[in-house]
Amino acid sequence: MSNRRWVLASRPVGPVSEANFHLEEKPVPRPAEGEVLVRNLWLSLDPYMRGRMSDAKSYVKGVEIGEVMVGQTAGEVLESRHASLKVGDMVLAQLGWQLYGVTRDAIKVDESRAPLSYYLGLMGMPGMTAYFGLKELGQPKPGETVVVSAASGAVGSVVGQLAKIWGCRAVGIAGGPEKCSYVKQDLGFDACIDYKAGALREQLKEACPKGVDVYFDNVGGEILDALLARMNLFGRVVVCGTISDYNATEPYRVRTWRAILVNRLRVQGMIVFDWKDRYGEALKTLGGYFAQGKLRYRESVVHGLENAPRGFIDLLDGKNFGKQLVKLQP
Ligand SMILES: NC(=O)c1ccc[n+]([C@@H]2O[C@H](COP(=O)([O-])OP(=O)(O)OC[C@H]3O[C@@H](n4cnc5c(N)ncnc54)[C@H](OP(=O)(O)O)[C@@H]3O)[C@@H](O)[C@H]2O)c1
Repeated sequence: MSNRRWVLASRPVGPVSEANFHLEEKPVPRPAEGEVLVRNLWLSLDPYMRGRMSDAKSYVKGVEIGEVMVGQTAGEVLESRHASLKVGDMVLAQLGWQLYGVTRDAIKVDESRAPLSYYLGLMGMPGMTAYFGLKELGQPKPGETVVVSAASGAVGSVVGQLAKIWGCRAVGIAGGPEKCSYVKQDLGFDACIDYKAGALREQLKEACPKGVDVYFDNVGGEILDALLARMNLFGRVVVCGTISDYNATEPYRVRTWRAILVNRLRVQGMIVFDWKDRYGEALKTLGGYFAQGKLRYRESVVHGLENAPRGFIDLLDGKNFGKQLVKLQP
């Protein structure tokens, strides 16, 4: 039995290419005392991985050249020298882009509540991001207008649905008619703006006749500029991601900064693991809404570890439709 894994071969300058990764074959590692050996079944692909390919200063250190690409995985315990995990347990772990891995920090998941892969999305890091970002930073009140960008994606789809559940008007922003139709028809948002269709400011005005109280920003760039100009007095901007910039060699410069002053906005950055002590609360709430049929969720699946780099590049290009995953085992 051998382990295949993707390591970082070089740091991208501008868009990521498959040449930035190298696939290598190693023996399957053996667990030390206190560890489990996990066969990974699912790998989560997430936009933050672009930042980890860089050595620029960030909130977490980047991956070194030759190191396995980081990533959260869901899999099955094959061998255990851990006090509370046993062979056959289904677990979440940070094992990266590889088929097998050893860890002492795996978390057992309950597959009776949701399929295993959902713990990488709706019931996992993206779901937690949506829940705490909207609830604690956005602080939406019933009747207010909440706008979210990358609205058909892992985080955005949950943000808009939570806004609806909590009594708000939910407006999405997404790329293309197919995604916008999904956001409105399937996810139940009140409106969705296709930013690729142009006339963003006019579309925004039409979709948000009473202005915007909460903007959950997943993308930054020109969309952020347009939103800042449309915010209501004392509005809140949740700065969750700037994906429009991740492949850029020069950062986008915001032009409507003055709107923060004029509208007395609160603009706050969000990093999900600041909320790790309260993940249980989010899991219970999201799990409850899911069980009641109040949360819809979609996955975009790439098959086989060998296709992970392609899946990741497509995610950054917006070719994913829902939470991007790699299914590692046939
Ligand atoms: N701060 C945190 O703790 C935290 C945690 C998780 C995620 N995030 C951030 O949240 C954002 C969404 O992450 P996700 O995992 O839910 O990904 P996702 O929305 O499932 O996928 C990314 C989406 O971004 C959109 N996009 C790509 N380039 C764009 C551009 N130039 N302009 C506008 N939209 C663009 C694409 O949708 P369209 O086709 O609609 O353009 C693409 O499908 C990312 O910025 C990510 O870094 C932050």
